[in-house]
Amino acid sequence: MIENKSIKNSDLKSAVHDFWQENSCGEIYAKGIEYQEQLESQSRERYILEPHIFELACFNEGKGRDVLEIGVGMGADHLEWANADPKSLSGIDITLRVINFTRSRLELYGFI
Ligand SMILES: C[S@@+](CC[C@H](N)C(=O)[O-])C[C@H]1O[C@@H](n2cnc3c(N)ncnc32)[C@H](O)[C@@H]1O
Repeated sequence: MIENKSIKNSDLKSAVHDFWQENSCGEIYAKGIEYQEQLESQSRERYILEPHIFELACFNEGKGRDVLEIGVGMGADHLEWANADPKSLSGIDITLRVINFTRSRLELYGFI
């Protein structure tokens, strides 16, 4: 937890980066031998632990729209956006390694 209120924005951004870089969001739930199994395990646990995400995100409203997800993490939500059939789908993240997870997930499901 960051308690120093005078922390500079660049330091905060760097701390956020380092936090997520060490363990990607939900990576501890990526269990299994095969890569696809690990990604599915991660997303399954994500939505068991946080079932409210579907109500909040309204993935279906992405249909036909240009969707930008900021903070794709391991790509569970990004796959939901892709399944919603958007006009275009873009995603960014402050950590590079999650981009590989997200790209692989979309590849596995034939979106790339
Ligand atoms: C809760 S996780 C996202 C989970 C993801 N939507 C999924 O489906 O698994 C938050 C993500 O936001 C990213 N993030 C945090 N601050 C960011 C920023 N300023 N710009 C871009 N990404 C950021 C983190 O690196 C992390 O991967």
